[in-house]
Order: sequence, then structure tokens, then C-alpha cells
Amino acid sequence: MATVAIVYFSAQGHTHQLAEAVAEGARGVNGTTVELVRLVGADIVEGRWKNPSVLAKLAAADAIVFGTPTYMGGYAAQFKAFIDTSSEVWMAQGWKDKLAAAFTHSQNLSGDKQSTLIGLWVNAMQHSMVWVSPGIKVEGYDADKLNRLAGYGGVMAQTAWGQEKVNEGDRKTAVLLGQRVAETAVRWVKGK
Ligand SMILES: Cc1cc2nc3c(=O)[nH]c(=O)nc-3n(C[C@H](O)[C@H](O)[C@H](O)COP(=O)(O)O)c2cc1C
Repeated sequence: MATVAIVYFSAQGHTHQLAEAVAEGARGVNGTTVELVRLVGADIVEGRWKNPSVLAKLAAADAIVFGTPTYMGGYAAQFKAFIDTSSEVWMAQGWKDKLAAAFTHSQNLSGDKQSTLIGLWVNAMQHSMVWVSPGIKVEGYDADKLNRLAGYGGVMAQTAWGQEKVNEGDRKTAVLLGQRVAETAVRWVKGK
């Protein structure tokens, strides 16, 4: 059995919808267990994030999918606080050889989401993880099309100001990321 954990922050629910889509895709793969882990700001005290039960769930996972809104061209501060605490895991290389993948959401078409994904990739490389790309070609540029924002390193999603539901193309792209990570994790665990 392969375990895929999806760890994310979401203030207004859009990144949460994407996390659920990633989970849907992963759950559809035989032999996969999914852990959805939503980070909360209340776990940050004096700038330091702390939640041992979240870290225990991630320690038990074979793959970790990271998700955060893009704020000022990078991670949300709440997510960064979690990443900073993961330096304690880094000391022991506790996430070494786990699979990693990522998604981000923002309001603008670009909004500098690439910068967020690169930051998440750097974090995964520091942890000696193995990156899984979405593996999805651009289907078109309309809101219902797969990978319409051309995120080849991770899933990019965009929702306009005032729009509650994420666009269907972005949601479906996140489902496929979850599926690909889970399929890869099943193969990864078999080969151990
Ligand atoms: C502090 C802050 C900074 C933001 N910076 C950006 C940005 O750089 N680019 C962008 O497109 N949207 C930006 N936004 C919009 C957020 O990306 C958007 O609110 C978020 O993705 C919504 O996700 P959520 O519903 O999961 O909280 C910003 C929003 C906030 C609150």
C-alpha cells in the first residue's frame, strides 16, 4: 500500500478545492491511501509553526504533495512557517527518497505562480525528495482545458476575484496530478 499525503494551506478555500481534487485522483489508484492535511494559522505561535501530529502523518507517507496559494509571488507565510519547521526533519533527512509534487493557486493568470512552484521544488530538493511532474500537455487556454496555464513543474490554478469555485480545467488538472503521483508511488513502493 502506498500513502500519498497532501499538505496545504488555504485561506479562502480555492487551494482546498485543488487539494481535494488531488486527493480524488490519488484515491482512484488501486493500492493507495490518501491523507489530506490542511495547515492552520493557529499552529503558528510567535512566527514558528508547530504540529507534531502533522509531521507524523508526513513521516508515514511515501509521497507528499505540497499546496499553497501564491502570495506576493511566493508561498503564503503560513506555508513558509511550516516549511521552516520542516528543517528539523531535514536535519535527519527524514523525507529523503519520498516522492514530492506541488500545486499553487492565485488570482491572476500569471501572478508569479512559477516562483512559488520553484520555491516548493527547492524545498523538496533540500529534503532529497524525488520530484513528480504533472506530465500533462496544454489542452487549450479556456477555463475548462487541462493545464491551461502551462505548469510543467507543478499544477497552476487561477480563479478570478469573487469567483468561489475553481475553474474546471484547473480542477481536472489537479485530479490528474493526484493520479500520477499515486501511480508513481505504487511503483516506487513495489520497488523498495
Ligand atoms: C497577501 C496576499 C498576496 C497575494 N499575492 C498574489 C500574487 O502575488 N499573485 C496573484 O496572482 N495573487 C495574489 N494574491 C491572491 C491569492 O493568490 C488568492 O487570494 C489565493 O490564491 C486564494 O487561495 P485560497 O482561496 O486557497 O486562500 C494574494 C493574496 C494575498 C492575501
